[in-house]
Amino acid sequence: MRSRWIIFIAALIKMSRQGSFTRPNVVFIIADDLGWDDVSFHGSNQILTPNIDMLAYTGVPLERYYSHCICTPSRSALLTSKFAHVLGMQGYPLTNAEDRAIPLTEKLLPEYFKDLGYATHLVGKWHVGHSRSRYLPTFRGFDTHFGHRAGYIDYYEYLLLETWSKGQVSGLDLYRNVTPAWDVSGYVTELYTNEAVNIIRNHHISRPLFLMLSHNAPHAANEGAMLQAPPEQVRAQRHVESPQRRIYSAMVKMLDDSVGEIIKELQLKHILDNTIIVFVSDNGGITTGETANFASNYPLRGLKFSPFDGGIRVNGLIWSKNLTDSRYTWKGFIHVVDWLPTLLTAVGASVPKDIDGINLWESITSNNESNRNVSYEINDFDGYAAIIFNDYKLITGKVPDSYSTHEGKELKGIIGKAPPYKEALRKSATYKIFQSKGIQINISDVRKNTIRVDCNTNNYEELCHPKQDVLCLFNIKEDPCETENLSSRYPDIVETMHGLLMAEIKRSVKRKKTIFRDPKARPSLHNYTWTSWLDSVDKKTVQSK
Ligand SMILES: *[C@@H]1O[C@H](CO)[C@@H](O)[C@H](O)[C@H]1NC(C)=O
Ligand SMILES: *[C@@H]1O[C@H](CO)[C@@H](O)[C@H](O)[C@H]1NC(C)=O
Ligand SMILES: *[C@@H]1O[C@H](CO)[C@@H](O)[C@H](O)[C@H]1NC(C)=O
Ligand SMILES: *[C@@H]1O[C@H](CO)[C@@H](O)[C@H](O)[C@H]1NC(C)=O
Ligand SMILES: *[C@@H]1O[C@H](CO)[C@@H](O)[C@H](O)[C@H]1NC(C)=O
Ligand SMILES: *[C@@H]1O[C@H](CO)[C@@H](O)[C@H](O)[C@H]1NC(C)=O
Repeated sequence: MRSRWIIFIAALIKMSRQGSFTRPNVVFIIADDLGWDDVSFHGSNQILTPNIDMLAYTGVPLERYYSHCICTPSRSALLTSKFAHVLGMQGYPLTNAEDRAIPLTEKLLPEYFKDLGYATHLVGKWHVGHSRSRYLPTFRGFDTHFGHRAGYIDYYEYLLLETWSKGQVSGLDLYRNVTPAWDVSGYVTELYTNEAVNIIRNHHISRPLFLMLSHNAPHAANEGAMLQAPPEQVRAQRHVESPQRRIYSAMVKMLDDSVGEIIKELQLKHILDNTIIVFVSDNGGITTGETANFASNYPLRGLKFSPFDGGIRVNGLIWSKNLTDSRYTWKGFIHVVDWLPTLLTAVGASVPKDIDGINLWESITSNNESNRNVSYEINDFDGYAAIIFNDYKLITGKVPDSYSTHEGKELKGIIGKAPPYKEALRKSATYKIFQSKGIQINISDVRKNTIRVDCNTNNYEELCHPKQDVLCLFNIKEDPCETENLSSRYPDIVETMHGLLMAEIKRSVKRKKTIFRDPKARPSLHNYTWTSWLDSVDKKTVQSK
């Protein structure tokens, strides 16, 4: 009997040495529509994000992290490691009565982790298909899901409102797995944080953890009440001059607090040292226009929905205890499609072949050059296409002018003095935990690690606006604010890039130019919830699950 135990324990020790029990945990945090200038490690003292900044200062902030410019496309690319246009997921995001999803032939990021023995959890937003149950997170690799399935929800009521041709329709979009979560109450950023904290607390450490925390914040909520935060939190931001941005600032503060809570719980659980943390925004902020949240991408040009850098060059960082000894900002080119192979490599797994993503783990962790030199923003729904190739970006087609200018400067106003940054850092949960663990940081010195974008503002008068058959070429390294059209100066570069872009467009799955809304999805037909309304026509497949 005893010898059997000894053999069993020896086998366990062997397995753990081989790594099957010690793969690092991964916590992937996504902010929704957070702007470039809305984290303080990018230089601003207006909105302070001390917890996120502590991860950036002691981990590796990503100076040239690119995503797609809209939620559904960027999340599709994250989950599949393929550009959105090769999935038919490019362009305008999924609306709630639209029967579309990431094709079921795709293997998603959580499925890879599940195959490796990870416990996989999604807290928060999905937005890559929900018309049928088999499109939902718990059918596509996540053990559990608590959150919203579509674009955003009201921060207190969890309703999503859409305007249809015959008027407004609204329904609940908060689910615990496949059940509407009527029983919960509270501010959604805190709800999601508590859920993530409970998952960490109750996690059995015999298995590694893959946790995706995909916040509603700081996306705008429904028309009529777009910006929402607890009143005392808004009051605490009263140095922010713009009344709307003051609320936005409180929304971001709650998001930053959430990061601190997650770090705290990982430390309490004694798994922080073995956890890789990623923090990213899904796309740029949307200062004005549809679903405006008063975010700012300043000084970058353009907003969410546009292929200018304000739409696609976003916040990103990676943290792990192993990375806290050498402090640097990684300046290499990385795209949202790269996370899948990069994270699989980070946990010692092999990388699938038929993907667009490139493994950048060694490049990032050894502060080496990037192996990526190209990315695309192909959107046949709106009718534009863009390519980044090495230092250049070429844009052609119809980009809405209103999403393509420099916005956000007018929102920078501060009443009186900016809040003391160093004090905020010192008071943050993350700083205190790092101090207790001996992860040193010299707070007097942190500003030298700020990522700053410097621009020549002389040409702002005559910006190149692409149109059908009118190309704009920019050197985004030397001119990160995309002010100078270089197409006539470098016809060879234009020709090369145009050729690459046209070849890539051939790979794309075309999208219809109109959005079909299925009247059967109407929430009033489903007890005022947004459901997987096509399950009845889809029964056979669901039953086989
Ligand atoms: C840190 O490095 C050690 C040694 O290479 C490795 O075993 C461990 O998995 C790494 N931890 C993380 C979180 O990557
Ligand atoms: C950095 O990249 C160069 C060129 O690809 C390669 O020779 C070198 O080994 C890399 N260094 C590290 C530390 O990975
Ligand atoms: C771009 O990257 C690809 C694949 O990594 C490589 O084959 C190609 O030579 C690179 N081109 C340039 C101009 O760097
Ligand atoms: C912290 O940074 C300040 C400013 O650069 C410097 O004067 C000081 O010596 C640093 N302190 C330590 C302990 O490195
Ligand atoms: C950019 O420059 C090219 C070449 O001079 C020109 O054909 C194009 O019209 C310019 N684009 C715009 C929008 O001005
Ligand atoms: C219908 O909605 C109400 C809230 O409006 C909820 O309390 C009730 O449980 C729901 N019924 C079902 C069957 O889900």
